[in-house]
Amino acid sequence: MDFDSIIDRRGTQSVKWDFMEDLYGVSPEDGLSMWVADTEFRVPEPVTAKMHEMADHGIYGYVNCDSTYKDAICWWMQNRHGWQVEPGSIFTTTGLVNGVGMCLDTFTQPGDGIVLFTPVYHAFAKVIRNAGREVVECQLVNKDGRYELDMAAYDAQMTGKEKMVILCSPHNPGGRVWTQEELQEVADFAKRHDLFLVSDEIHHDLVFDGATHIPMANAAPEVTERLIMLTAPSKTFNLAGFHTGQVIVPDPHLREQFQRRMLALALSPNSPGQLATIAAYSPEGAEWADALVSYLDGNRKVFDDAIAGIPGLNSMRLQATYLSWVDFSGTGMSREEFTRRVEKDAKIAANHGTTFGTGGESFLRINLGTQRARIAEAGERLAKAFSDLQ
Ligand SMILES: Cc1ncc(COP(=O)(O)O)c(C=O)c1O
Repeated sequence: MDFDSIIDRRGTQSVKWDFMEDLYGVSPEDGLSMWVADTEFRVPEPVTAKMHEMADHGIYGYVNCDSTYKDAICWWMQNRHGWQVEPGSIFTTTGLVNGVGMCLDTFTQPGDGIVLFTPVYHAFAKVIRNAGREVVECQLVNKDGRYELDMAAYDAQMTGKEKMVILCSPHNPGGRVWTQEELQEVADFAKRHDLFLVSDEIHHDLVFDGATHIPMANAAPEVTERLIMLTAPSKTFNLAGFHTGQVIVPDPHLREQFQRRMLALALSPNSPGQLATIAAYSPEGAEWADALVSYLDGNRKVFDDAIAGIPGLNSMRLQATYLSWVDFSGTGMSREEFTRRVEKDAKIAANHGTTFGTGGESFLRINLGTQRARIAEAGERLAKAFSDLQ
């Protein structure tokens, strides 16, 4: 498995490369694109073969592969996560941002409060606000470079108008893998305040040694009646363009409500997304995913070592994900200044921490899902851009 070869994505309509200049002022000519969460890796062979087969056949009519698709998902969840999923509980949405939108639409009303543990994946707040719901920010505690929950503080924030909590597990950004105790605390919090609990587990396959991801459905089966699980093959297998995500609703009553909204909006999956999922959720896909995690682990080490050598910069130690979360507060610089140095001097396009909500202000999120040589290059560029601090 080759994760080292550089693949030029410029000119392919890639959001990450072809829009970096518009968004960050970093030219794709000599810039490093390390923002939006897709990777620079070619998908595993069975996915490529399936796509070739489809293109060679040349007919893209209606497809019904639902039972094979759901079986593949059940196999993956059981084998990789020890989680038994009922095929009938699986719905397919146009990716998981759409999945979040569907959960808001089905289970909450305009004006309801939706709890987020911030800083967190920025699209949650965007969807919540555009749906006329209110974001209730419960800030994570940065304890010695590791995010932790503060349930007593969050209890005190609740007003009674909150209807849903969205957990990101593993957490993006910062890469925390929540422990059984922490998951139980979130489940208890949802119960205490009578909230629907949406657990977005899109990063669940990308977990490094020393941490174990526990699906919320296993961690707290007693909250099944309020639980909605979100998963997708897109982060692991670099399939985001297919916009195929799973909303898994274990409770039959909630499932019926969700089913009705899906039918009312006439939402149904696209065939390349389903066929790619079937090919990825296979023994060959599993082997590829193991190799990927091991490669990403190496990237994390190279990048963290480089950051550790730059006074004033601190990267959170990732337990999961390829999304490094770098704190610039130690530089004493304004947000504008450290961002300017990263974009203009180091020529790196990275996500701005402010977009992730309260607590993200002094951070940039840097995507390590790329070739090792580029990670080393990014480290060198950052060291140079902040060399006056040495
Ligand atoms: C936690 C989380 N959920 C959802 C998404 C995006 O999901 P999709 O592309 O399926 O809409 C991301 C992408 O980075 C993410 O980090």
